Amino acid sequence: MKEELLTAFREKGLFVTPEALEIIMGKEEPMAFAVEVMERVKGPWVRKEDLEEKKEAPKLELNLRKPFRPAAKEMEARVKVFEEQDVTGKSTSEGKVGDFIALFRDRYEALSKMLRVRGNMARDIDTVKKKRLQDNTRVIGMVNSIHTTKNSHRLMEMEDLTGSLKVLFPKSDKTMIDVSQNIIPDEVIAVEGRMSKELFIAKQIYRPDVAMREPNRAEEDIYVALISDMHVGSKLFLEKRFHKFIEWLNGEGKERELAGKVKYITIAGDLVDGVGVYPGQEEELATDDIFKQYEQLHFYLQQVPDYIEMIAIPGNHDAVRIAEPQPALPKEVLGPLGSLDNFRCMGSPGYVSLHGFEVMLYHGASIHGIVPHTNNVNYEHPETVITEWLKRRHLHPVYGEKPPIVPEKRDYLVMRKVPDLLHVGDVHRNGYVTYRGAIGINSGCWQSVTPYQIKLGHHPTPGVLPLVSLRSGKITILKFGEEIK
Ligand SMILES: [Fe+2]
Repeated sequence: MKEELLTAFREKGLFVTPEALEIIMGKEEPMAFAVEVMERVKGPWVRKEDLEEKKEAPKLELNLRKPFRPAAKEMEARVKVFEEQDVTGKSTSEGKVGDFIALFRDRYEALSKMLRVRGNMARDIDTVKKKRLQDNTRVIGMVNSIHTTKNSHRLMEMEDLTGSLKVLFPKSDKTMIDVSQNIIPDEVIAVEGRMSKELFIAKQIYRPDVAMREPNRAEEDIYVALISDMHVGSKLFLEKRFHKFIEWLNGEGKERELAGKVKYITIAGDLVDGVGVYPGQEEELATDDIFKQYEQLHFYLQQVPDYIEMIAIPGNHDAVRIAEPQPALPKEVLGPLGSLDNFRCMGSPGYVSLHGFEVMLYHGASIHGIVPHTNNVNYEHPETVITEWLKRRHLHPVYGEKPPIVPEKRDYLVMRKVPDLLHVGDVHRNGYVTYRGAIGINSGCWQSVTPYQIKLGHHPTPGVLPLVSLRSGKITILKFGEEIK
């Protein structure tokens, strides 16, 4: 140690007196203390009295330099991907009429089953129409269309596998008129009411919804950190802030104990900015080669401690099809990232269990498709859409809105299982909600505000990191700006 200290001082052009050296050697962290001394002593000699000047100042430095012993390093990762919920490797769609029929049939069957479990017996549309039942009856169907008539009633057409039905929400029933305002095309609902001539008069509606249940929790005191929308390759990628986040995971800075409890990182899409995603994008790119963009991302993610498992899904800027469901990023585009042992990809949506705590990941671009059809969702509070998805048990109900939907034989956008956490991104703004025990988080972004977002009046929240305790479900927020706030 003596030699090391003398060499370090010499390299700074400083000479240490023997008494001063003895005092330095007697410190708890001699080298850390020496570094502090080097910064303030002008030299060329470092004397005993030079060391006594600032007794209090180095304390914080010394504390931070204590060895970082992350608790999460001491436990094995327990990751289980639910393959059946993921389109990766199973896309068979040719976009033919038969594919669309299969998709909507699967959606109807999956969601009507949920409605049957939760409610009274429902009748087929064909039976209800033929028997002209006057009593209260329940039917389950997919919404074809809904509009306001010239007499201010609301008229909906819905269908099941036996036929279609015209459902009326009379203008005299204010409650039902309000309810009808939030019914959106292609969702599956149950309607209670009775037949009156050719119309079914609605008195109540039900959605598949989320049943109250005991959420899954891990026994260990560990955390998942949520990130999305880094947009590496963009001139606006907030490289310094992102690097601070990685340094923080490595024990640099404040909240070190929390950093040491991070066992998982989930990444909800838009890992890179992509190329040719929108007209004129090349002017906003620092790197215009998509392979290089993923290589740059690898440069950062390889610095994440290797005991932390990372699970990523693609977004609309990544190098897979933009239409949903999106398959996982293929190895060919990932380059060195594909060989990183603690990094894995799933499709969007994808479903994974982390220490028994179940997380659904979905990029979330369907918010744009749902906003025109309901007043319950807004961009300032992106978590509002999460509640709407959970109620409908569907992540992207409206066919024909953006982003496009691929007619797979199975509807992967149906939420067949309710996760403990639904992690989404896309709108670059943080938001948090808990709906019937399910936590919903939009993890914001690591990209600065784009001119396009300013034009749309969006307010992104870059550098804000949500963390969720897998033991309690509690959410913690850290802000990586110049400093962690
Ligand atoms: Fe994004």
